[in-house]
Amino acid sequence: MTEHPASAPTPRTPRLGFSGVPKRWFAGSTAATHVANGVNLLFPAGERFFVRSVKHYLDQLDDPELVAQVRGFFGQEGRHAQAHERFFDTLREQGYDVDAILEPIEELAYGVVEKRSPPALRLAVTVALEHFTAIMAEDALCADDLAGAHPVMKQLLEWHALEELEHKAVAFDVLKAVHPSYALRVAGMALGTALLGTFWIQATRALLVQDGMTWRDAVRELGTLRKQAERTGAHMSKPIVTRVFLRGIREYLRPGFHPNDKDHRRVVEATLARLTAEGVVGALEEAA
Ligand SMILES: [Fe+2]
Ligand SMILES: [Fe+2]
Repeated sequence: MTEHPASAPTPRTPRLGFSGVPKRWFAGSTAATHVANGVNLLFPAGERFFVRSVKHYLDQLDDPELVAQVRGFFGQEGRHAQAHERFFDTLREQGYDVDAILEPIEELAYGVVEKRSPPALRLAVTVALEHFTAIMAEDALCADDLAGAHPVMKQLLEWHALEELEHKAVAFDVLKAVHPSYALRVAGMALGTALLGTFWIQATRALLVQDGMTWRDAVRELGTLRKQAERTGAHMSKPIVTRVFLRGIREYLRPGFHPNDKDHRRVVEATLARLTAEGVVGALEEAA
């Protein structure tokens, strides 16, 4: 049972055009932009992996409410992948060889690790990564982490974030229904953390190299941004390792943890209302 049973997540297609997004779209900073681009590059294939991992168990689910939630989750993740891939075209126009970056990552992640992992572990990795995604989504919507983003990228990430919070418990509830093992959950977190951390760094590094910036200069630039954020008391002053990974692991390892322990319905509703008013999502689009 979930603490806050919700209706099935609604897939929405955002109305967003990326052609006007500048190269340094995050805080005017090369380093911060590529940290954001780095994780963005991982989303589409990652989200399709999440869908495959959950789909494997669809026939074993006998709760119609959970099946409806799973179908909504598939629809949302599919649309996220498509929207982020549309942004890849803008990155290509800006001169980045996105495919050269993604090829080795996807070969290792989905050609080797996914193929050699049993379905239960694949699902457990998905659940762990969905928890990290929910943390990033909460930070994006509640802690003003997107304050420095270009308006269109801000809308893209806010739409993605609100839907991540809508379906944050779906994969977890599937795992609980088919493999309610704490050890498996922990194994999924260990592998998920290693994969996300490694590939995020790899993608960011590759983008920096293509932009002619050294890792050392990028770290220095991020340090300057963090000091500026510290002066204003902004949440972004904390490194990603602390605010995403360590927080995520700490929460997730609590034996009684459930993604709905934290109620995000208010922020989801408020963000949806705002994005609807801004014309990013809306009744016309959903009816189409
Ligand atoms: Fe997503
Ligand atoms: Fe998700």
